[in-house]
Amino acid sequence: MKYALSLAAVFAAVSAAAPPDLPLGSSLDECLRAQSGAVLAPGDQAYDSARETYNSRTTFSPQYVVQPTSLSDVQHSVRCASQYNVAVTSKSGGHGYAGFAIGGEDGDLTLDMSNLKTLNVDDNGLVHAGTGIHLGELYQGIFDQGGWALPGGTCPQVGIGGHTAFGGYGPLSRKSGFLLDKVTAAEVVFANGTSATVSEGDDVFFAVTGAAPSFAAVTQFTYQAEPAPANTVTFKYGMYGRTLEESVQAFNGYQNFMNGDIPNDFYAIVTLGADSIELSGNYFGSQDDFNNIVQPLLEAVGVRDGDNQDVSQDANFITAYTKTSGDLSSTHVAPDSFYSKSLMTNEPLSMDEIYSFFGYLKYDATNAQNDGYSWYIIVDPYNGAIHDVSTDARSFPHRSALLDFQFFAYSGADEQTLFSLVDGMVDSITTSPEAAYPNYVDARLVNWQGLYYGSNYVRLQQIKGAVDPANTFRFPQSGKSGL
Ligand SMILES: Cc1cc2nc3c(=O)[nH]c(=O)nc-3n(C[C@H](O)[C@H](O)[C@H](O)COP(=O)(O)OP(=O)(O)OC[C@H]3O[C@@H](n4cnc5c(N)ncnc54)[C@H](O)[C@@H]3O)c2cc1C
Ligand SMILES: *[C@@H]1O[C@H](CO)[C@@H](O)[C@H](O)[C@H]1NC(C)=O
Repeated sequence: MKYALSLAAVFAAVSAAAPPDLPLGSSLDECLRAQSGAVLAPGDQAYDSARETYNSRTTFSPQYVVQPTSLSDVQHSVRCASQYNVAVTSKSGGHGYAGFAIGGEDGDLTLDMSNLKTLNVDDNGLVHAGTGIHLGELYQGIFDQGGWALPGGTCPQVGIGGHTAFGGYGPLSRKSGFLLDKVTAAEVVFANGTSATVSEGDDVFFAVTGAAPSFAAVTQFTYQAEPAPANTVTFKYGMYGRTLEESVQAFNGYQNFMNGDIPNDFYAIVTLGADSIELSGNYFGSQDDFNNIVQPLLEAVGVRDGDNQDVSQDANFITAYTKTSGDLSSTHVAPDSFYSKSLMTNEPLSMDEIYSFFGYLKYDATNAQNDGYSWYIIVDPYNGAIHDVSTDARSFPHRSALLDFQFFAYSGADEQTLFSLVDGMVDSITTSPEAAYPNYVDARLVNWQGLYYGSNYVRLQQIKGAVDPANTFRFPQSGKSGL
């Protein structure tokens, strides 16, 4: 009997499940209120915090924000939205750059997943996480439940929903890939309200690992975690007041080093500001090995004795992570008004490109800073284990990039000036970008289909047509069925 029960449970977990048989009502409002989660509309007290997103520049007013408490609440809510032809978007951590989690326009239905807080890890490091979980909670939780780790970003407040849907890059990514590379299954709700668990080999698994919100509401991700590193070196070297020539040489030294034969356990990023070049990262190994690896990098970049230097090592992975990320239990969102773009390059920049880039930063962008427009640029190495996954294994296609640039400007009074400041950063490097990172989503990107998805876009369109023909899961960059 016990055996039969557990078999039934396994079967239920991998097969499609119909939505609960709740009444569809005579209006969307009546329909939604048949499920258990809170149903919030403009004017309700909790509505504003439920629709809050990190980028205060892109705030939208959904018709409803539903806060499901279970899978069946999600199923019923999606069924209601389909019945009344209202667009559905899912919100996990609210850290998307363009407000797409709350529709990217007014009047949609937002599923706020914040109550879906399941987090279990088995003895083999298989993690089941509800999409209400934030990165800090994920890292801390899996470390506490057996010493496990997963690759992903450094901001604890980012939600796993969006982060996994579009990538998930961080200190462990050269060693272990993106967070979406660690997904083995996803529990999803389709436009018709049916739920299913999809895994490797399924079309929908391909679609959700790179483009989830166009296809389904994801209620849970399953990840294969790995043992947390036994020792972590954390480093930061700050260089200030460099000339244009020195800055160009520093960047060239960095990119050539990262393009060389270095261990995947080594990760170094560059953060650029108006008058600063910061080199920071981690090494997952011993301090002695780190010293040997980093020496030629410091020489190539031109780090000097008088520069800021901060190097430390920790046996406890979470202690190390906290140095970069701050308090992992924090879920507080501190909204800011910003605009961001990304650019991925497969090759090192040419010397002409580097001169043009740093010329722009030293003069145009510094002038903008003096006018009150703050900005920074982060350059991440996208090689290492990321390249070990084939381009068509997941809809996220970028498997041959060397660098990803994130251009970020904030707090300026005039939106058009923010746009032209950031556009100018990209244009100073290239006017024909090859690829962009979908987790740094840019609502103004013209060829987003090609830049985000490359050759995988055709297959995505076919799957969209099959599973969401009425385009229920729609937002400005969702793609349309049958195109
Ligand atoms: C301060 C800050 C730091 C960051 N640092 C990093 C970093 O180090 N590395 C990195 O790779 N990225 C980083 N990012 C980018 C981040 O990965 C993306 O913005 C990510 O999409 C945010 O996920 P979210 O769930 O918090 O956002 P949301 O705004 O809730 O969602 C973003 C998108 O994902 C969709 N989505 C969310 N949940 C679901 C779900 N359950 N089912 C289907 N679709 C869903 C939404 O509809 C929306 O389109 C950072 C962003 C910020 C603001
Ligand atoms: C609901 O949609 C999914 C995805 O397209 C499909 O597999 C399933 O058969 C549909 N269920 C019903 C009852 O139509």
